[in-house]
Amino acid sequence: MKDPKKTNEKLDQLESHSTSNDQEMLTTNQGLKINNNQDSLKAGDRGATLLEDFILREKITHFDHERIPERVVHARGSGAHGVFKLTKSLAEYTKAKFLTEVGKETPVFVRFSTVAGNRGSTDLARDVRGFAVKFYTEEGNYDLVANNIPVFFIQDAIKFPDLVHAVKPEPHNEIPQAQSAHDTFWDFISLMPESMHMIMWLMSDRAIPRSFSRMEGFGVHSFKFINEEGKVHFVKFHFKPKLGVHSVAWDEAQRISGVDPDFHKRDLWESIENGMFPEWDFGVQLIPEEDEDKFDFDLLDPTKIVPEEEVPVQLVGTLTLNKNPENFFAETEQIAFHPGHIVPGIDFSNDPLLQGRLFSYTDTQLIRLGGPNFHEIPINRSIKTVHNNQRDGYMRQQIAKGKVSYEPNSIGGGCPFQAMMSEGGFTSHQERVSGTKVRQRSESFVDHYSQAKLFYNSQSEPEKMHLQNALIFELSKVTMPEIRERMVGQLAFIDRALAFKVAENLGVEVKELEFPNQSLPADSNHV
Ligand code: HEM
Repeated sequence: MKDPKKTNEKLDQLESHSTSNDQEMLTTNQGLKINNNQDSLKAGDRGATLLEDFILREKITHFDHERIPERVVHARGSGAHGVFKLTKSLAEYTKAKFLTEVGKETPVFVRFSTVAGNRGSTDLARDVRGFAVKFYTEEGNYDLVANNIPVFFIQDAIKFPDLVHAVKPEPHNEIPQAQSAHDTFWDFISLMPESMHMIMWLMSDRAIPRSFSRMEGFGVHSFKFINEEGKVHFVKFHFKPKLGVHSVAWDEAQRISGVDPDFHKRDLWESIENGMFPEWDFGVQLIPEEDEDKFDFDLLDPTKIVPEEEVPVQLVGTLTLNKNPENFFAETEQIAFHPGHIVPGIDFSNDPLLQGRLFSYTDTQLIRLGGPNFHEIPINRSIKTVHNNQRDGYMRQQIAKGKVSYEPNSIGGGCPFQAMMSEGGFTSHQERVSGTKVRQRSESFVDHYSQAKLFYNSQSEPEKMHLQNALIFELSKVTMPEIRERMVGQLAFIDRALAFKVAENLGVEVKELEFPNQSLPADSNHV
């Protein structure tokens, strides 16, 4: 057991927004004392209730508006505060200050989630887990919006709404709620060879973690590090749990779901309450810009990993979660992560999935959190005071003084000014880009099976058996034989014995597919 870290700069900031109702008298939202919270105002003993009863009206109106939309994906979440401590300087590769000074501690908030289920769904679903980390750095918020699986289903953001529509409960009957197999998901997957590497991970034990503190986290995309001299390295981010990676088997997951659907949420909460703080090593894989083309896959392809044998993960820091939120809604629910929240020294790659994500998060949060001022919600505030000329909008909290809110201006009047280049600030990495404007997939993204095979072959015999049984179980829920057939056709490109075993159990044949190892042509929207 370790001593809980009492506070940090972010927790102090949150404290200034906190209230306690302990020993306080009940009031309305206008501060008026309430001396009867049991009865509404009536005309006579037996009513009717009077419209005049502003205390009743206020209480019920607020209650009526308690719900906000759940996240369109990753709706079910659990979060905690913590600290990131740097153990090895990355100054050679990046100028991001929280990654250069050994021993530096940066406050963080982490939110774990499942992807497909709604807010009330079970923690134990076979699903990807979100692992989103907000670093409250002295240079502004940096969000590493990661998952517990190192690759993704699709290569291009334009397929994301299709993927999510396929995996979510079917629109006509809202079945299935859980991630159990169904026609729409497997129909889509069977037509998307690029998803096969991810499917191998998803059908493996990795997709049912034992706890949040026993799962890995991956940034998935290649990002860029830029150092003081402007030198670029591609970087892949990793979190490795100090407790090791542990999963539960499918039948255990089924039973736990029935008895305690909050199993992971409870474990995280209780571990922290009991001072057994979940910890991860933070690691990076670094690839010099000039080595971008030395791999047999494209570094920009999010369905590929960079093998750790080729580029070892260097451990450079520790992430520790040491404080539960005071209020689930205010913190875990209202937090807004965004892969576009970066700091100097970190930049995006041209991964077409990442590029689409950069649009999606603010867009959805504008509606989920009710307008353009959600950066002012306490959990989202940077520990640095924000200064700019943005103003007004629903729910504005900040009272900006002065009469000028534009720039340039000659009046002054409270207007913030732009930093000189020499004074720091964010500069996008300069990169030469040229080419013809095209709507197509790069040829370098075309190999969909090599890494799926590598992953399958890396599994031990019991793990292979779990994966095989998962496919049989999930595909047995698919009602349309042609979808089952297409799926075993896909599996045959990964491992023929696996495909035949699954096919035998499903009562279908393994047939040659027409679209091996390539994305579907743009003009084939159905088979
Ligand atoms: C949440 C979009 C791919 C990790 C979300 C949300 C959206 C979204 C709209 C809800 C955000 C909110 O309401 O605050 C997309 C799109 C993707 C994509 C369009 C692909 C084009 C990915 C990938 C990862 C990822 C590849 C992992 C590397 C997450 C996580 C959350 C999330 C962890 C939950 C954040 C939280 O806890 O609040 N995504 N996503 N997403 N996404 Fe993505």
